[in-house]
Amino acid sequence: MKNRDTFSSKIGIVAASAGSAIGLGNIWKFPYMAGKNGGSAFIIIYLIAIILMGYPLVYTEFAMGRRAKTNAVDTFGIIGNKKTWNIVGFIAVLTVFLISTFYMMITGWVIYYFYHSLTGTLYNLSSATDSVMHFKAIFSHMSSSMSIPLIFSMIAIYMTALINSMGIKEGVEKYSKIMMPVLFVLFIFLIGYSATLPGFSKSMHFLFRPDFRLVTPQVIIGAIGQAFFSLSLGMGALITYGSYIAKTENIRQIARQVTLADTIIALFSGLLIFPAVFTYNLEPTAGPSLIFISLPQVFLKMPGGRWFSLLFFLLVIVAAITSMVSMLEILITYVIEKRNWSRKTSTWMVVIATTLGGAVNIAGEGPLSYITVGGRTIFSWLDYLTNNITIPLVAVLTAIIAGWVWQTTRLNKELEIGAASSTKLDHYFNLLLKWVIPPVIVILMIALLLGAES
Ligand code: PFF
Repeated sequence: MKNRDTFSSKIGIVAASAGSAIGLGNIWKFPYMAGKNGGSAFIIIYLIAIILMGYPLVYTEFAMGRRAKTNAVDTFGIIGNKKTWNIVGFIAVLTVFLISTFYMMITGWVIYYFYHSLTGTLYNLSSATDSVMHFKAIFSHMSSSMSIPLIFSMIAIYMTALINSMGIKEGVEKYSKIMMPVLFVLFIFLIGYSATLPGFSKSMHFLFRPDFRLVTPQVIIGAIGQAFFSLSLGMGALITYGSYIAKTENIRQIARQVTLADTIIALFSGLLIFPAVFTYNLEPTAGPSLIFISLPQVFLKMPGGRWFSLLFFLLVIVAAITSMVSMLEILITYVIEKRNWSRKTSTWMVVIATTLGGAVNIAGEGPLSYITVGGRTIFSWLDYLTNNITIPLVAVLTAIIAGWVWQTTRLNKELEIGAASSTKLDHYFNLLLKWVIPPVIVILMIALLLGAES
């Protein structure tokens, strides 16, 4: 096999992995999930899930990847010492493919909003028009069309593929190191502005004062699923990036930094969005359309709102593209190693497949939206199935394969390469991997299948 590329610096690995983790999941999904599920009670469960389940799985995925030094599918066979375990990797890769097909659609929507913020057409309404109707009309005009989202989502995927086609060091690492600081600067600037809005303290209450009566099995599953999605777990992303990490790096330390960055951005996205929502008396529970229908109304009303709008959508684009880079990388690494094709050929094959899948999602939201199963569109099904079934399934099997089959002694050995020896606390986290993650997820998945989800 040809020489495998590697990340050239720790900062590059952290930027690329945080870039993978921080995405639409943080800025678009986390606020509306928290909004829909009662705010702070959801957030507390989310935080517990991040610390007790997310962090151990982050370092485990990195360690598995670095140990096996191959694509996400074969990694499971190598770590589990039996080829049949490859099936788990296959589910992970299939999951990320399905996710990338709707992720590109939503990123396309965001680019459309950015473009119309830039030209000003997003806010072009006569004073007689009701602003709610105006933004609803823009959203439905966009999402019900076939060509508009297709063109904009193709822009998203081609920008992404361009980065991937240049390789790990010269593409993924180099551009993550440019894009992540841009993301942080935009974020801090926007938060600073949000904090001056009168709704800020109300959102602090909403986000940080829990009401545990609102906690149901469904909320718990939703919070854990969201924690995994946000950390890019259960999809082979961190395994793939791990396979490009050099033996001189301290994986636990990288895992801590990535987990922390992702969590901070999720929490602060709430503080970015909700003050505006509360200041202008909008519903925090609006759902997926929160950033497309509710937020633009706020941008319209607040002083300097159009600039805010422009920078906000730019922020979301940067976050989404660095996540898409990691999604494509999983698929590309797999294709390169299975087919022995060049990186360029593999990248374009993956782009074609993803674009076709994207077109199916776009049609399902647009011209074919009358076709629903159980009231859900294709996108809604894919989101539901991946978040509630395949991601937790891969996560639980990862914990079992790493904790029980590979065993924590060998996991620790890998983790101690490039690092000091494990502390007591490190051992406790490994225990979670063996004894807590598998039963908790299995019980919750059974509860879900038995109909806890309404
Ligand atoms: N973690 C990303 C987000 O929160 O938006 C989503 C994601 C990235 C999922 C990379 C899967 C993946 F491979």
